[in-house]
Amino acid sequence: MNIDIKAFYDLSYGVYIVGSCLDGKPNAMIANSVMQVTACPEKLAICVNKESLTHEYILKRGFLSVQAIKEGSDMVFIGNFGFRTGRNFDKFAKYKFNLTQNNLPAVLENTLDIFEIKTEQTIDLKTHTMFIGNVVSAEVLSGEGKPLTYNYYQTVMRGKTPRGATTFKG
Ligand SMILES: Cc1cc2nc3c(=O)[nH]c(=O)nc-3n(C[C@H](O)[C@H](O)[C@H](O)COP(=O)(O)O)c2cc1C
Repeated sequence: MNIDIKAFYDLSYGVYIVGSCLDGKPNAMIANSVMQVTACPEKLAICVNKESLTHEYILKRGFLSVQAIKEGSDMVFIGNFGFRTGRNFDKFAKYKFNLTQNNLPAVLENTLDIFEIKTEQTIDLKTHTMFIGNVVSAEVLSGEGKPLTYNYYQTVMRGKTPRGATTFKG
């Protein structure tokens, strides 16, 4: 069977901040693998690399936050959350955030909204875990701006994809 890598480029995604908080410490990363999977009830699926700190936090807490990133956000912002690990770097030193009712980080800059998700199912995908969860709250933070798409990130921003991402090819 032939696998043409170019076919994968026609799969569309957004670019999101995925966060959680454990023992009073917030952490967040960038993820393109986020999608709504049902409407009644509202459920999202999020695919997270097992080596990331955010994965550890989500597994232990059973809660995560998802935020759509604004188009026009710069590579410094993406790099802060998507190319560094919270294991040895404070991702919130530079960017302001609030804690939600369920104690999840909501980044206040470059984001459009905030979803709080309670995980209901986990699917082991070897390198990644897919978390499927119910939306317990959803709030628009900024009515202005367009959501950043993965296609825009790659073609206009010329952004790269790090090793842990679901779409990384070595
Ligand atoms: C554009 C982009 C998309 C990404 N998509 C994902 C993804 O869907 N899932 C994932 O696990 N990591 C993804 N990553 C990689 C994580 O953001 C990265 O591994 C991060 O450093 C993990 O941080 P942490 O260890 O503090 O949790 C993506 C990164 C970028 C820049």
